[in-house]
Amino acid sequence: MKTNTNYRNLQEQYLFKNISDRAEAYLAQHPDQRLLRMGVGDVTRPLPSAICEAMHRAVEELSHAETFRGYGPEEGYLWLRQTIIDNDYAPRNIDLTTDEVFISEGAGSDLGNLSELFAKDNHVAIIEPTYPAYADASIMAGREITFLPCHAENGFVPDLPKRRADIIYLCFPNNPTGTVLTRDELAKWVNYARENRSIIIYDAAYESFITQPNIPHSIYEIEGAKEVAIEVKSYSKSAGFTGVRCGYTVVPKQTGLQPMWLRRQCTKYNGTSYIAQQAALATYTPEGHAGIRANIDFYLTTAHLIKDRLQHMGYEVYGGENAPYIWCRAPHGWNSWTFFDHLLNDCQILCTPGVGFGASGEGFVRFSAFSNRQDCEEALKRIQTLA
Ligand code: MLT
Repeated sequence: MKTNTNYRNLQEQYLFKNISDRAEAYLAQHPDQRLLRMGVGDVTRPLPSAICEAMHRAVEELSHAETFRGYGPEEGYLWLRQTIIDNDYAPRNIDLTTDEVFISEGAGSDLGNLSELFAKDNHVAIIEPTYPAYADASIMAGREITFLPCHAENGFVPDLPKRRADIIYLCFPNNPTGTVLTRDELAKWVNYARENRSIIIYDAAYESFITQPNIPHSIYEIEGAKEVAIEVKSYSKSAGFTGVRCGYTVVPKQTGLQPMWLRRQCTKYNGTSYIAQQAALATYTPEGHAGIRANIDFYLTTAHLIKDRLQHMGYEVYGGENAPYIWCRAPHGWNSWTFFDHLLNDCQILCTPGVGFGASGEGFVRFSAFSNRQDCEEALKRIQTLA
């Protein structure tokens, strides 16, 4: 047996595992302390009642012989795929067919698994800083990567790759910087992909946090994008499904990849749970929608609070307007991990070190607004006392 030696090229630990291990180690040494958690983007507000009721009904159906269900379609139930098209795409004049929408267990898995569709010698371009799974999946597959740095000087908007890229990972609103692309900026990427016969894997997990007008919510709002883009969406952050697990991926037939993804899913994925799909369906009801909107607004208010207060303290901060993350430069020329350690050891605050999202993130940390308000207020008080 030979192992996949590409794994040797990965960082020893996945970013969020590393952070949770450090948090555990701290608590083991300081059992009397409690951490103020502004690290991983995990939701903290309970699910709206309309969504819980939908899951209760689904469980009830599974408990009776007449309404019991076993395996569902690998691509997801038709009623959910049609509802997604009717609500998330048709109002934006985007035409999709139900066989182009694949229900998943969340964006993270598909963002990694999509890598299987492409030959090893494809060249990958990845904006950075960004969600670490794109680079990790590409490294596991043994592909060469060009990183496209985003920093304050370029407004966190990446330049097109200088070396031709076959596969391009984009994430907007961006995790971690909170940057959004205008229609013209996104069109540049679609045009590049069409000219170079590249594929864009577009992570739109934070789409529902966009507040600025005229920002595209889907890459398919850009002409020609259906030829060159796969869009990955999640209910994790929008609807609080980090524990429920449900998302979807759009693979338009014009990309030529839809039959391959269907084939892959039929072999390797037995479908998303019926209960989770019913929960997802309930997010589109008036009550479900109002409940998730209230939660998103709560997190955005928390994000504004963090940003304003840090700015008043003199910190250089970005994001927090169209995303639940605040991107903050470490003070005193500290690097990301030094500031992380200060916050953990001196203030009992857990954040995410910016360098974990890529080299251009060095010298920054990310604060997540998926935090409870009191903890967040307390965290800000403690940061104020830092020398
Ligand atoms: C993050 O904190 O960046 C993400 O929430 C982690 C994830 O979605 O896996």
